[in-house]
Amino acid sequence: MKVFGAAAAHAGIQYETVEYDIGGDRYLATGEVLPDSVLEELRGFDAIYLGAIGHPDVKPGILEKGILLKVRFELDLYINLRPVKLYPGVPTPLKDKGPEEIDFIIVRENTEGLYAGIGGFLKRGTRDEVAIQEMINTYKGVERCVRYAYELTQKRNKENTLTLCDKANVLTYAHDLWRRVFDEVGEDYPDIKKEYAFVDATTMWMVKNPEWFDVVVTCNMFGDIITDLGAMIQGGMGVAASGNLNPESVAMFEPIHGSAPRYTGKNQINPIAAIGAAGMMLDHLGHEDAAAKVETSISDLLASGKIKDLGAGRMGYTTEEVGDLIAEGL
Ligand code: IPM
Ligand code: MN
Repeated sequence: MKVFGAAAAHAGIQYETVEYDIGGDRYLATGEVLPDSVLEELRGFDAIYLGAIGHPDVKPGILEKGILLKVRFELDLYINLRPVKLYPGVPTPLKDKGPEEIDFIIVRENTEGLYAGIGGFLKRGTRDEVAIQEMINTYKGVERCVRYAYELTQKRNKENTLTLCDKANVLTYAHDLWRRVFDEVGEDYPDIKKEYAFVDATTMWMVKNPEWFDVVVTCNMFGDIITDLGAMIQGGMGVAASGNLNPESVAMFEPIHGSAPRYTGKNQINPIAAIGAAGMMLDHLGHEDAAAKVETSISDLLASGKIKDLGAGRMGYTTEEVGDLIAEGL
């Protein structure tokens, strides 16, 4: 918020914020995860900025389902946008690859697929148990996601290539639909090169030939998995930002990482992913120049070599100082 504020001040952007205390501490104190009244209020904002989710004393799933997934689904934030961009000066585990090669963006469908939460058990707790988890793919849901990806590919100044990452060779219903919709919508974008990659092969190529990718569109579950891989090749969770968008209404921005509870209150965690998310938020709000300044400031700081390591406690600066450096760099 400090960097967002500084960028807004430079650009003369007026804004108002409302803060909500949502998360593990509140849940433990009151039993409330995300009250309906808050959810209703969230619908009315232009953008939502979400800190990381997770608390060591809360059973896994409660906060994730009760906050993050609930907001994504209830507010119909159907696009999860996850840039995979290696900043200069940041080490990647990929041999002989640099910022030129690692610069693509993953469009993850964000409201359907295996995340729909539909399924059940038969004979639960017995040796005959069967657990069923259904995958929902609707024509409308796939179409709006794929169309967004085509539009984005057209706007980006790279190879103008859109890759559909799926598993159409095995998921012969669900991903048959994806392929048909991908081709059908693609007819409206004759200048865009279409590629198809199975998800297993995608993980291989992301490591071996990341330069092949420009925009990748994929379903919710595969997007979840390949964006963690994407985060690693761009230098780790410390730099990976994301946006959950409903292009027609509200959007929510967040770092991809979790809450790193080991570091709570220590002023040691890396804020760059969260700051990058604030930059994406400016862009979404129509302030492309201010967003570009945030990006440049992050990039300049990383290129300067001042930050020793991107890991918490190893940066050579506190969280606050890294925020100050990026705000000053604007
Ligand atoms: C992510 C996270 C979430 C997801 C979890 C916390 C529910 O891993 O944003 O990628 O699976 O979508
Ligand atoms: Mn994830």
